[in-house]
Amino acid sequence: MNAVLFAMPGNEEFARGLVRSTGADSGLIAFRRFPDGESYLRFDTAVEGRSIILVSTLNAPDEKTLPLLFAAQAARELGAARVGLVAPYLAYMRQDKRFQPGEAITSQSYAKILSTALDWIVTVDPHLHRRASMAEIYSIPVAVCHAAPKLADWIKENIPNALVIGPDAESEQWAAAIASSANVPHIVLSKTRLGDRNVKIDFPSLERWRGKIPVLVDDIISSGRTMEAAIKQLRELDFAPPLCLGVHGLFAEDAYERLIVAGAARIVSTNTISHHSNGIDLSNVVAEAIEPFLR
Ligand code: R5P
Repeated sequence: MNAVLFAMPGNEEFARGLVRSTGADSGLIAFRRFPDGESYLRFDTAVEGRSIILVSTLNAPDEKTLPLLFAAQAARELGAARVGLVAPYLAYMRQDKRFQPGEAITSQSYAKILSTALDWIVTVDPHLHRRASMAEIYSIPVAVCHAAPKLADWIKENIPNALVIGPDAESEQWAAAIASSANVPHIVLSKTRLGDRNVKIDFPSLERWRGKIPVLVDDIISSGRTMEAAIKQLRELDFAPPLCLGVHGLFAEDAYERLIVAGAARIVSTNTISHHSNGIDLSNVVAEAIEPFLR
């Protein structure tokens, strides 16, 4: 029997792409909120004995995780054989250490909660910083897809005269791989985070790259302050208006507008989080990663 795929609210378009690429059946789940804000969920497609896939990107995780857990729990109670999650964006990856005494290590706690409720997860470029792999925090299989080849293809097709710019030392290998596949040069900046909405960016000398189109690449655009600071300096240095390319476009608060005001020529994100800047489709990449879980 085919696996059946259920889109949590807001994930319908991405889920349609997955149904097209995987051959899984499309299932119906009804969701609404009671007047007091509690969630109501009902599976309108039978799950008994079936392998099911919940599709829920996890930006705004505090609002989305509880309905997801309710759906996973209900599916198990209703007899689903396996319950997998496609979370194109996986939240709570950044607080992976107790920086100050008494802090919660939320990446670890979140991983424990999801690992209990699900059988497997597929995600795209989780923000692994101080962890070597997802297995360090998740006790269920997590398949990780990479957006870099698609970002490189996009640059190759759209900006052949690009200079790829990674925002910090940690992005070196990633930015280098994208630039090399796109057949363009790259540099990385030096970033110091001074607060949630405050970063300091230092540039290496850019003289030899005059005439290139700067393309800022990052895995996450959250407050947008990293890219904003880089755009401003590039404009001061008289470079062409930069392009901003992000895997996960969270665009918290007024991030998108700030980037435009700072002088971005264009902002392009992948569709791991639905946004009008989406210009790179990753549904077929994610579909490939799901296949092994459906055998
Ligand atoms: C940090 O290490 C990440 O790669 C991003 O640079 C960061 O999350 C971007 O955040 P923001 O948009 O808030 O500056």
